[in-house]
Amino acid sequence: VVYSLPTVDDVKDALAQFVVKAQHEAIEKKGRFTIALSGGSLPKMLGKLVDAPDVQWDRWQVYYADERVVPLDHEDSNHALCKKEFYDKVPIPEGNIHTINTDYLDDIEELREAYENDLILQFASKETARFPIFDLILLGMGPDGHTCSLFPGHELLMEEVEWVACLEDSPKPPPKRITLTFPVLNHAARVAFVATGEGKKEMLARILDRPEEGLPCSRVRPLVGTLSWFVDDAAAELVAHP
Ligand code: 6PG
Repeated sequence: VVYSLPTVDDVKDALAQFVVKAQHEAIEKKGRFTIALSGGSLPKMLGKLVDAPDVQWDRWQVYYADERVVPLDHEDSNHALCKKEFYDKVPIPEGNIHTINTDYLDDIEELREAYENDLILQFASKETARFPIFDLILLGMGPDGHTCSLFPGHELLMEEVEWVACLEDSPKPPPKRITLTFPVLNHAARVAFVATGEGKKEMLARILDRPEEGLPCSRVRPLVGTLSWFVDDAAAELVAHP
């Protein structure tokens, strides 16, 4: 489903309603709401959630769709960005926010494994669950069609086993990152992309109208879950059937 709204503000409203509905459904079923957030412009788009009614913040378990391997207060950290734009304004218990373990900043494989183990604790053992089923994963669309830290032409597009992957050659700085993999994105109950602004119009048309190009965003196709796009008119201008 593509939700094409006139303005960025309308997108924020629609996204807040969507997230609140998703958390109700998840909490009703399992007593908790597992969500993964991205960096970039995404955290700012959550602004309307701050005053939304009926949010059970203490039931949220928050992860990162991708994270840069830097200290948590570093200007490149997605956690730092989410804290500034979102966590500082809402009462999510600190223990429910799953950051990278910065003891391992010098050993990216250890750091990757620690993050995967955190997911395994939340979503049952890796042996019993092939992949975690996030209630909601919120993604951005990069100017080159990347999402998470899954970049066009990168070998990680082929990952089929790991839940969390690491890379040291990200074309977008900083180079060291961890990211959820496609199997994890595609096992989620809900995946939602958020893309706004004129700068996104060419790429959005390529992703939505020409999926055969195989750009990373086009490879997000949940097997059972739902896929939604929240876009504004400026971004949707060149899309054939928004
Ligand atoms: C990252 C982000 C990244 C982002 C896209 C879109 O860590 O780099 O998570 O994947 O979502 O690059 O960024 P914008 O929303 O800023 O365009």
